[in-house]
Order: sequence, then C-alpha cells, then structure tokens
Amino acid sequence: MCKSLLGGCAGFAWARKVVAVVYCCIGRGDRDHRWSAFAWVAGAVALIYPAGLANADPPTAEQFYQEQCKRCHGANGSNPNLYSIFPDLPDFTDRTWQAAHSKAELKESILSGKSRMPAWKDDLDGVKAGDLVDYLRTLAKPDQTK
Ligand code: HEC
Repeated sequence: MCKSLLGGCAGFAWARKVVAVVYCCIGRGDRDHRWSAFAWVAGAVALIYPAGLANADPPTAEQFYQEQCKRCHGANGSNPNLYSIFPDLPDFTDRTWQAAHSKAELKESILSGKSRMPAWKDDLDGVKAGDLVDYLRTLAKPDQTK
C-alpha cells in the first residue's frame, strides 16, 4: 500500500523514504509505532540539519581577504599605516615583490604563518590558500614601465 501510494510521488528518494516510514508506522495506528515514527523523523532532522549548515557555500577568496586580511594588509593590498608596527608587512600592490615570491611559498606562509603573520590553516572557512594567493596576485598594480 505504501508502495503504490508513494511510487508515483515526485521528489527526492530520501524524502520518499522518510515519508514512507512515517506513513507506514502511523498508518498501522498503534502507539509504539507512532513513537518510532517520531524517532525516525527526529533522527533524520538531526542528520540532515547540520549537514545542510556545513554545506553553506564557503566565502570567495576575495570576501575572505576583505573580512580577515584587510585589517593588516589593507583593502587594496598595501597598508603603510602599519609599517611602524609591522616593518616586514609586504606590499601586495608591488609587482617586484609579487614576482619574487612563488605561489608555493605564499601558500605555506598563509597556512603556517610567518613571524607576526598569524597561521590560517585552521581558520580558512573552506577557502583554499591557493585561491587566496591568486587573489593577492590580482592586487598588483599594472606595470608602469611598459
Ligand atoms: C595581524 C596582522 C595580519 C593579518 C590579519 C594577516 N596578515 Fe599576512 N602578514 C602579516 C605580517 C606582519 C606579514 C609579514 C611577515 C614577515 O615577512 O615577517 C605578513 C605576510 C603575509 C604574506 C607574505 C608571506 C611571505 O612568505 O613573505 C602573505 C602572502 C600574507 N601575509 C597573506 C595574508 C592573508 C591571505 C591573510 C588573511 C587570511 C593575512 N595575511 C592576514 C600580518 C597579517
């Protein structure tokens, strides 16, 4: 009976399964089954809800930079105001600096930190260090000498 009723029902397979369990158990009408139907639904929600939260889209590298890195490195990649506190702060708008540092090197610094630059490997919110480096490359000013 469950099959014929639900067979034609459009929708996700998992949703049909949950509905089938609930329908069959409640349909039989006795108390114990009704409770187990609730348990199934509660269990399904408990499983699906956090999975749904975890699947929220990660921020883009640009969004992450503007949220987390800007306060030290500046929105445009250069922040001379902080040179007195961080004399080694790189200028991402400087093409010469960009050319002198490989992607692998910069990824490693982002993940593991470098002197007063914090390590980010546990706080990247799903953003890839490589994508951050690609974004930093876009901050370089066009070559003025050409
Ligand atoms: C608390 C301030 C601070 C924040 C926040 C910060 N940085 Fe840095 N960053 C620094 C300092 C200081 C340096 C210079 C480190 C050195 O060369 O000694 C640096 C250096 C770097 C370098 C160059 C590393 C190298 O190998 O020369 C990269 C790339 C970098 N930061 C990326 C980022 C990214 C991406 C974020 C955000 C996820 C970020 N930083 C957030 C302070 C910060």
